[in-house]
Amino acid sequence: MKTQIFYFSSTGNSLCVARDIAQAIGGEVELSAIPRALKTPVPVTASAIGIVFPVYIWGLPAIVRRFVEQLDIPPSTYIFSVATCDGNAAGTMLQLRELLERSGHVLALGKIIRMPGNYILMYGAEPKWWQKRRFAKAKSAVQRIAPLIAARKPGKVDCGTWLGRLLLSKFIYNGGMKQIQTTDIKFRSTEPCNGCGLCVKVCPVRNVALHEGRPRWLHHCEHCLACLQWCPQGAIEFGKITEGRGRYHHPECSASDFMF
Ligand SMILES: Cc1cc2nc3c(=O)[nH]c(=O)nc-3n(C[C@H](O)[C@H](O)[C@H](O)COP(=O)(O)O)c2cc1C
Repeated sequence: MKTQIFYFSSTGNSLCVARDIAQAIGGEVELSAIPRALKTPVPVTASAIGIVFPVYIWGLPAIVRRFVEQLDIPPSTYIFSVATCDGNAAGTMLQLRELLERSGHVLALGKIIRMPGNYILMYGAEPKWWQKRRFAKAKSAVQRIAPLIAARKPGKVDCGTWLGRLLLSKFIYNGGMKQIQTTDIKFRSTEPCNGCGLCVKVCPVRNVALHEGRPRWLHHCEHCLACLQWCPQGAIEFGKITEGRGRYHHPECSASDFMF
């Protein structure tokens, strides 16, 4: 039985969860990066599909929403999802469930898994020992849901609290998403920038271009922060707020995993 997993990830948490699921369920598993699948559609040919992604502003990243909206899923396909977050996903899984329901599909299982946070606008990378604890817990969580996925059985859909769903995943999410594309006006490159262009390559939506050897942001940003987190020189800042904060990426991933 074939399974297809579509993933979005900017610093590797969701990619590693997708890889762990693939390993844990066994059989034939095809992993497809959502940014690439948006450009070159990947037909759904498997009996099960998974959608794995990070939580953004207590909801679905815009790129994941666009992807699900255009995905042509044959009826009776088993659909599961895992979202990674650093603390609170609120109603993220319900957003996905509702989106799928609009095209007549059922989300059979929706799991939230906590991982180290990558939202450097609020905090820098957490200590390594603490990250390791989260990785271990995440791997256990994958082991718990893997038998259900392998057997195409329904499981729980993590819903959050009603207050979180209303306040965070509706009001704050809708407000945040309206502004997200142009938040990139605050990105800037600093002195150590050597024009290597990695920021251009890891941007999932081609929102970064080099101009006279320095990055420029083009105002159709997903706010994934890959450009900033993967810069080998640590030479990208968001205003002043990210100065001195530790960069983060999952230790099992490298920048080449994010070049589309
Ligand atoms: C723009 C943005 C918004 C985020 N919003 C949330 C959030 O609302 N709740 C949360 O728990 N984590 C939030 N995070 C943290 C990520 O969801 C989390 O670190 C995730 O595991 C990153 O996955 P990735 O490495 O696959 O990109 C946010 C991160 C970013 C970049």
